[in-house]
Amino acid sequence: MADTRCIVETRRVVELACAAPSVRNSQPWLWRLGDHRIELHADQSRRLPLTDPRGRGVILSCGAALHHARVAAAALGLPAQVEYAPDLDRPSHLATLHLTPGEPSALAAADLDALAKRCTDRRRFTAWPVPDERLATLASTASAPGTQVLPLLDIGPRLRVELLVNRAVDRQEHGHSPRGEHVEGSDGLLVLLTERDDPRAWLSAGEALSQVWLAATTDGLSLVPLSCVIEDEETRSELHREVLGGLAEPQLVIRIGWQQIGRSELRRTGRRAFSDILLP
Ligand SMILES: Cc1cc2nc3c(=O)[nH]c(=O)nc-3n(C[C@H](O)[C@H](O)[C@H](O)COP(=O)(O)O)c2cc1C
Repeated sequence: MADTRCIVETRRVVELACAAPSVRNSQPWLWRLGDHRIELHADQSRRLPLTDPRGRGVILSCGAALHHARVAAAALGLPAQVEYAPDLDRPSHLATLHLTPGEPSALAAADLDALAKRCTDRRRFTAWPVPDERLATLASTASAPGTQVLPLLDIGPRLRVELLVNRAVDRQEHGHSPRGEHVEGSDGLLVLLTERDDPRAWLSAGEALSQVWLAATTDGLSLVPLSCVIEDEETRSELHREVLGGLAEPQLVIRIGWQQIGRSELRRTGRRAFSDILLP
């Protein structure tokens, strides 16, 4: 039977995990709490059928929440082993975190600080470009299996991606993007890639997104994921063929840059009631 401390801390891990980013703040996750274990499930009822017919955005978002949960667990002194569900082709149960009481990790405490500060900051970035080395270092922080983050440093692929993103945004938002998703010349760009294009790969990509986002937040950088270019089959396929030579599967483009003023005054997005995201 679970002791009271374990119940309280397991619940806290999930509360912190729910601060994760999700596509259009859909928060498509459900959790089942047990004795030193937490199950993560996808809530397919939150899928946006028009822009996310295959459920990629649902699973990417769950991957970000999974990484947030790992960070929270490690920072609270309950490091987690993740057991991935074997059959992700019909995904509902995605993964189980097995928590073992241990020492709180200092590294995770820094990540937890970033987790509390992180938000999607869509304000226009300053014109100071993010140096190539900084983009490359940030890209290298993603270590989820089967994923890679590609910094776009050469002018050719950069311009191509800029064009594709802006075309996809114009098509989806009819020329007006209330979410500030157009790319500008001085923005840093990263592409989140996977070897395969299936739910298991999407889950890893979501974990990698969270890793990069927390590292960027610690570094004082702002980040906006750009999913229009992936949601639009035509621009995704051009990105796959022309920029990646058909060698890797694009999951997300990420716009990155500096803000003139800190993000502390930004209004935070809401979260679902805790009782709505718990499975019996
Ligand atoms: C997989 C994924 C895709 C996203 N795509 C976009 C996007 O295309 N444009 C955008 O402005 N924000 C995008 N976001 C950010 C979400 O809108 C944001 O995380 C959500 O509204 C919650 O706000 P917060 O990040 O400030 O907590 C995306 C987030 C995730 C996880």
